[in-house]
Amino acid sequence: MADTLPRVAVFVSGGGSNLQSLIDAVKAGILTAEIALVISSTKKAFGLQRAEKAGIPGRTMRPGRDESPEEYEARMLALLDEHKIDYIALAGYLKLLPLGVVRKYRHRITNIHPALLPKFGGQGMYGHHVHEAVLAAGEKESGPTVHLVDEIYDHGRILEQIRVPVKPDDTPDSLAARVLEKEHRLYPRVLQKLIKGEYDLD
Ligand code: GRF
Repeated sequence: MADTLPRVAVFVSGGGSNLQSLIDAVKAGILTAEIALVISSTKKAFGLQRAEKAGIPGRTMRPGRDESPEEYEARMLALLDEHKIDYIALAGYLKLLPLGVVRKYRHRITNIHPALLPKFGGQGMYGHHVHEAVLAAGEKESGPTVHLVDEIYDHGRILEQIRVPVKPDDTPDSLAARVLEKEHRLYPRVLQKLIKGEYDLD
């Protein structure tokens, strides 16, 4: 029966708490998919340890010193093929995906961003930079966004968001924690709806 589940590759670069929320959601039956592969942009990512603990194959992928962009793209596509990946979930992944991967998996790649896109997105807007910018702008609300991935950073169609208040005494850390808690709730549910074809994507 497990063979018939959609196979998801989760891409990480860091702690992987969103990866963990997806793993936990599969166990809880909230996400009817198999997390079949974890790809990290760095071998230091704690997300790889989470994968190992859950019995999920983990791989580090980054361009080799003498590798052309085309070769790197082909290597990534081959790895995804080898693991029969149907969907890609970016979860704190800090690199751009090769174009050929974005094209092959169109409408099947999601990303989670810790602010209410289209505000506070784009290159350089990651981690604490996002929350610092939200506070500097005097926003009253923030919250995670899950969106489809296209060729442009943080640009693809927004699938869902959760709004949380920004409090007057917030620091980037306190705001990040409030948003992250909602990320863990949002991401598995959006992925499940995408897999079930509940978004009209045409
Ligand atoms: C999250 O805030 C996510 O929105 C952003 O990167 C962070 C990753 O956290 N894209 P984690 O590695 O899932 O703990």
